[in-house]
Amino acid sequence: MDEFRLFPPQASPVAQQLDWLFFALSAITIFFCAVVFLPIIFFSVKYRRGSQVDRSHPRTESMLIESGWTLVPLLIAIGLFSWGAVLYFHMERPPRDALQVQVVGKQWMWKLQHAEGKREINELHVPAGRTVALTMTSQDVIHSFFIPAFRTKQDVVPGKYTGEWFKPTLPGEYHLFCAEYCGTNHSRMIGRVVVMEPIDYEKWLNTGEPGEATALAGERLFRDRGCSGCHGLNSKFHAPPLENMYGRSRPLATGETVAADERYLRDSILLPGKEIAAGYENIMPSYAGQLSEEEIMQLIAYLKSIGGSSTGKVGPTEPPSSSGK
Ligand code: CUA
Repeated sequence: MDEFRLFPPQASPVAQQLDWLFFALSAITIFFCAVVFLPIIFFSVKYRRGSQVDRSHPRTESMLIESGWTLVPLLIAIGLFSWGAVLYFHMERPPRDALQVQVVGKQWMWKLQHAEGKREINELHVPAGRTVALTMTSQDVIHSFFIPAFRTKQDVVPGKYTGEWFKPTLPGEYHLFCAEYCGTNHSRMIGRVVVMEPIDYEKWLNTGEPGEATALAGERLFRDRGCSGCHGLNSKFHAPPLENMYGRSRPLATGETVAADERYLRDSILLPGKEIAAGYENIMPSYAGQLSEEEIMQLIAYLKSIGGSSTGKVGPTEPPSSSGK
């Protein structure tokens, strides 16, 4: 894990695909540098002062050359753009069957929790061959979750969720870095990702103190914090029921509709007056400052687990970059 190498190991399919794009870009850049600079060097030697060469300078014109050096670079640029765009969209959409891991960044550590309840700090254990999707937020400033061996890097931002996914293929240990300067100990906000054979991973999951599954922890919070008092079936208050809600579109009092995704649930807990469900009053108190980021994620995991057809298996429902940048 620590010997010097020019490139990190390619430990996921995306890493290979990204490297191919990178090498292609480098090769094309080197090729065109050579096309420009080698003739410059050649001609400056050939036509140096005092050399005996033909300097009569006859005019020639060629449509073929003119259109060629316009069209060929254009096609190359469009090709590279398309290649990059296809890769980008592939990386922005987490596959549906992913293992879910919640990540909270804070000065200066990573706190992670698996859907089964297992918690880790600055370490992430994952099975080889399974897709892993991270839902991430920060407790203080902007951090960035960077695993060079998977070529994945994503900002972790206070007040919103961002996502990142990867499919590790090679068992081993890989670096985990914070890639956004976040204060004095930024450089020590590091850790490791341990990719294990699936059997070893199952064993690992079942060692140590068993954690509470995130959805179960969320259900407990839902009762303990009084959410069920209003949103429960037998409530005196007129509050929207939350079963079968996750992942669907939700009509608002303003006449708009929003997708009931993680962003919407988070805002509804912390800023309940922001998007009032159609047919309901603005009576919910804000839970800002009363729940930790982990607890909010657990509540959302619970609401996903009682959610609609697209149960708790979806990652971030939209590419992070499409919301409010
Ligand atoms: Cu966290 Cu840099």
